[in-house]
Amino acid sequence: MSTARYAVIGHPVAHSLSPRIHQAYARQTGVSLDYDRIDCPPGGLADQVAAFASSGGRGLNVTLPHKRAAYALCTELGPTAQRCGVVNTMVRVEGGWRGHNTDGSGLVRDLTERRRQDLRGRKVLLIGAGGAAHGVAPALLDAGVSALFIVNRTDTRTDALADLLADPARVHPRYFADVDDLGPFDLVINATSMGHEGADGEPLQLPGSMLTPRTDVVDLSYGRAAVGFLAWARAAGADRLFDGLGMLVEQAADSFRIWHGVRPDTDEVYGALRAEFGSPLASG
Ligand code: ATR
Repeated sequence: MSTARYAVIGHPVAHSLSPRIHQAYARQTGVSLDYDRIDCPPGGLADQVAAFASSGGRGLNVTLPHKRAAYALCTELGPTAQRCGVVNTMVRVEGGWRGHNTDGSGLVRDLTERRRQDLRGRKVLLIGAGGAAHGVAPALLDAGVSALFIVNRTDTRTDALADLLADPARVHPRYFADVDDLGPFDLVINATSMGHEGADGEPLQLPGSMLTPRTDVVDLSYGRAAVGFLAWARAAGADRLFDGLGMLVEQAADSFRIWHGVRPDTDEVYGALRAEFGSPLASG
């Protein structure tokens, strides 16, 4: 019997850690798989996914910039993907693909289990309204935050995300220009791609008034992409800084469970990657 094929699809994807993470989980759980990277420029998702399916592909992780297109492509959706409007995990099913989203569960698990945070009753600022922000917002609400303020460079996308979440008592779309009047927050999450290679435009200028030394600041990116935002937060007085490495291994474990029926232990992989990448800003 041939080995089952899985892959991460995105652009750029050359540096994705997903193959390494999934291969480590496969070794740990005794699952046999091939896991590749598929580089797919914007607009090419449907063709690439069809080619992958014909070559025996069983599952895909979807990353930037395809999470919304993947949602549209799926013939079935799990309940979380349905709520997020974006897909990061696809499973081959009869006649098509079933879409899931594990970004939010991955973030919440990293914050609550690895960082021992209680998200209940917290006042949260989510910066960004793209694929990553859509992926995590429902899970933050489910975790019991008391208020989720959303700002994004493009206001129409802020409103669209707030409408999708359909929780007006807790979800507050705001203009960037008004952020100065809203703070401080208990938790600030950067879900934009502004630190990524090839990000368009200058990074946003954010007011330091959103932070106190007790604010938890999370960038959903890791490595170099997270440095700019976290360095800004530290200069603005925040001490509790986290990157997205923990979320990465947790969302991968949730995808692995969807595909293989077993959730691997994430500590060893997280420890190895953390040792390699260092702590954000080489501090605590
Ligand atoms: P992802 O899947 O990583 O969320 P995306 O769907 O392309 O990728 O969304 C990118 C997010 O980063 C959006 O919120 C985008 O803002 P716009 O909706 O205004 O495009 C945000 N973003 C990208 N570059 C940015 C920059 N230089 N400053 C601020 N926000 C930026």
